Amino acid sequence: MERLIQKIKQEGTVLSDGVLKVDTFLNHQIDPQLMWDIGTTLKSLFAESGVTKVLTIESSGIAPGVMAAMQLGVPLLFARKRKSLTMRDDLYTERVYSFTKQEESEVTVSRKFLSEQDRVLIVDDFLANGEAALGMARIVEQAGASVVGIAIVIEKSFQPGRDKLLELGYRVESLARIASLQDGQVTFIED
Ligand code: G4P
Repeated sequence: MERLIQKIKQEGTVLSDGVLKVDTFLNHQIDPQLMWDIGTTLKSLFAESGVTKVLTIESSGIAPGVMAAMQLGVPLLFARKRKSLTMRDDLYTERVYSFTKQEESEVTVSRKFLSEQDRVLIVDDFLANGEAALGMARIVEQAGASVVGIAIVIEKSFQPGRDKLLELGYRVESLARIASLQDGQVTFIED
């Protein structure tokens, strides 16, 4: 997605440990017009997939997720990393290990928001090792629902997430694919 790639080129900064900082438009401050355009692109990619729900994970997946959900005309559901005080009902729970943060967290979704009839589009801001996306896919499958695809705003293609998800048979659509962050430079995979 050209606009997204231009934005990363203009505003992204590479941190020394191979992490891309995009807090001017995605991870802290949000660019709503760019999020809307992301929603438009995801709608065109998944318009024929019979999506009934978009699933993301708090917090940075919510902005692109809600725009995709709005344009597909379905609800957005976000997995929670901490159990909320009001979540007293039955929960789907998965453990997600973050290699970046070297910590495990528990992600939960209330059972009342996913059913066997659901066709779920998973959306996330970054794809690195694929653990968050896999955790969400396992939750969808626990519910007996189907994953119609996994949509990612920024994929770090030099990490194993994409291949893991493809090997498991998921459709993966990444709007910007980064080949390398070496020497402080962002290099993209051009489609
Ligand atoms: P994985 O889910 O693909 O396995 O990724 P990993 O555990 O390595 O990433 C953990 C967190 O770090 C996730 O956010 C992920 O989006 C983010 N992340 C991974 N690589 C980068 C990067 O290069 N740049 C930025 N900005 N973030 C990266 P999170 O902890 O869920 O944070 P948030 O959604 O609450 O913002």
